[in-house]
Amino acid sequence: MPAKYYLTTPLYYVNSKPHIGHSYTQVAADTLARFMRLSGKEVLFLTGTDEHGQKVERAALEAHQTPQAFTDQIVGSFKDLWGVLSISYDDFIRTTEKRHVETVQNVWKKLHEKDEIYKASYKGWYCTPCETFWSDGQLLRETDQTLCPDCKRSVEKIEEENYFLKLSKYQQWLMGYIRSHENFILPVTRRNEVLGFLENNTLQDLCISRPKSRLTWGIPSPLSDTHVTYVWFDALINYISACEYGRDEERFRKWWPADVHIIGKDILRHHAIYWPILLKALGVDLPQMIFAHGWWVQGGEKMSKSRGNVIDPVQIVKLYGVDAYRYFLLRETPFGSDGVFSEEALRLRFNTDLANDLGNLLHRSLTMCEKYFGGKIPAGVSSRCRGDLRKEVDALRPALDAAISRLAFSEALTAIWALINQANKFVETSAPWQLAKQGNTAELEKVMVSLLEVLRVTAQAVWPFMPSTGEALWAQLGIQEKLKASFLRESGWGFFEKGGKVAKGAPLFPRIDLKKS
Ligand code: MSP
Repeated sequence: MPAKYYLTTPLYYVNSKPHIGHSYTQVAADTLARFMRLSGKEVLFLTGTDEHGQKVERAALEAHQTPQAFTDQIVGSFKDLWGVLSISYDDFIRTTEKRHVETVQNVWKKLHEKDEIYKASYKGWYCTPCETFWSDGQLLRETDQTLCPDCKRSVEKIEEENYFLKLSKYQQWLMGYIRSHENFILPVTRRNEVLGFLENNTLQDLCISRPKSRLTWGIPSPLSDTHVTYVWFDALINYISACEYGRDEERFRKWWPADVHIIGKDILRHHAIYWPILLKALGVDLPQMIFAHGWWVQGGEKMSKSRGNVIDPVQIVKLYGVDAYRYFLLRETPFGSDGVFSEEALRLRFNTDLANDLGNLLHRSLTMCEKYFGGKIPAGVSSRCRGDLRKEVDALRPALDAAISRLAFSEALTAIWALINQANKFVETSAPWQLAKQGNTAELEKVMVSLLEVLRVTAQAVWPFMPSTGEALWAQLGIQEKLKASFLRESGWGFFEKGGKVAKGAPLFPRIDLKKS
């Protein structure tokens, strides 16, 4: 039985079309999922949409549509974009689906049976854009306005009868859990942020309902005819409803706990405080890891539709191609940090890393193979090639494993590019054209096969990041077997021992003329 790997993205609100920020989480999750599949794991990659709540209800109203018709339409634009970006998700969950609605209601009942829920009056504030409750002391006061401390937009005063989850009684337990599980919240800055918050604040119990008089677009509470479920309580449960919690014990045991929840840092508190406590109260294991990545910022602010500073990923992909876009997102900025999206920086990376380094290595290697060997890869040579390049190739896989296990995508790409650049240098230092002139075929064969081994391992290593580029390299190397198969071997070196025939194609990344654009 292959090991399993279960990873999730947040469920995106369907109040508007997706932008670069949403696509960032997806590209990272897709890369991780592909890497794990390549490593032989059985993967469940879950994504989806968060469709209930006040924010979506209002957006539908503004569009003069029913919430269901409105969400159906926006879900389409998310799915279309994931298609454009080659996102290989295994399951797409909508919070309006029956499987999810039933699970949420089941969780309500279980928590009630366990005496983890009570009814009380809620007096406080609500931020609709963030779908978050705030107490008096947490708000931002500016002249005559009362603002949400997160998004800095105005909040509404509410007083409602609601249901609460007993969050506060688990505060000490959660702090102990986070302290004793080093990799539970990553990166470490986010872990410290959560611990700092728990050390300096007393947790309030979590309001988990909204009265129907205020909101109808939600999952009905099984405990009351007059309440629907608070949208965050609803949405978080998707991570277990997708693997059939309370519905199919075997499937649930197979996949749960999740190996990683990938989220943006904006929703850290919900995932690192509410979610673990909800699971603890329910008597369910916690996920292995919660990784909160940084934001793409524009003009010093988080990119978001309400700030009007979003960039449409489809336009960028049209100009530069999907693989260059994916490469840029994951290479430019370490995954835990904020980044600034700029086309200028993307063009530079395109010309330097993709066209000059990778494109050139492929082109010159295959050209030489054609010129000196008529395109035939000399057989029985690979095992005789020793030296630095071989060492680098052997070291790449463990380096990638280490980087990817920490979701350090940029570090992983840096390691791949170090190998590519070393191979480019190797061409200069070994000067195959001179070997050819001298008639030193034995040495020329070794140089040739060494370069092709580097390209073969590069094809596999870049595939999770840039699937079509990986496939194209593979095809140009003329390899018949599936790209996945040989990545599992201890040392990839030796692949071409049996020889082969290259099939040079068009350049993968034709340089962009920076002066023209
Ligand atoms: N619906 C909730 C999540 C519920 S999960 C159980 C939500 N949705 S959201 O549509 O607002 O999307 C949030 C996620 O989109 C962020 O956590 C992040 O993954 C991604 N991003 C949205 N804008 C972003 C940036 N500007 N930069 C990077 N990622 C951001 O919150």
